[in-house]
Amino acid sequence: MSNSVALIEASKVAVGGSAEVVAEGKIFAVFNVDGDFHVLDGICPHAGGPLGKGMLNGKVVTCPWHGWQFDVTTGQHCLNNLLCQPGYQTKVVDGIVTVELG
Ligand code: FES
Repeated sequence: MSNSVALIEASKVAVGGSAEVVAEGKIFAVFNVDGDFHVLDGICPHAGGPLGKGMLNGKVVTCPWHGWQFDVTTGQHCLNNLLCQPGYQTKVVDGIVTVELG
């Protein structure tokens, strides 16, 4: 059975912006790409940096700690095909960015 988790009001994440949200004991990175919301696990796999506090450029976020870059729509690392950050099925429900946990 799926578990919907409300993360943040969509209006609080501007187009081209990102946010870090803690919920259900997890850290989520929320991104607004041209009005479409995408959510990744917020902990960078390199050394634990906060991806939700990274700079978003188009659909690519740059980790603020050491610059690893990920496509936020897929989680794919931009240089290493073997690295893919886990993401979550995301939708906006009544103005709230919501993810499905398995
Ligand atoms: S912790 Fe993200 S690039 Fe190092």
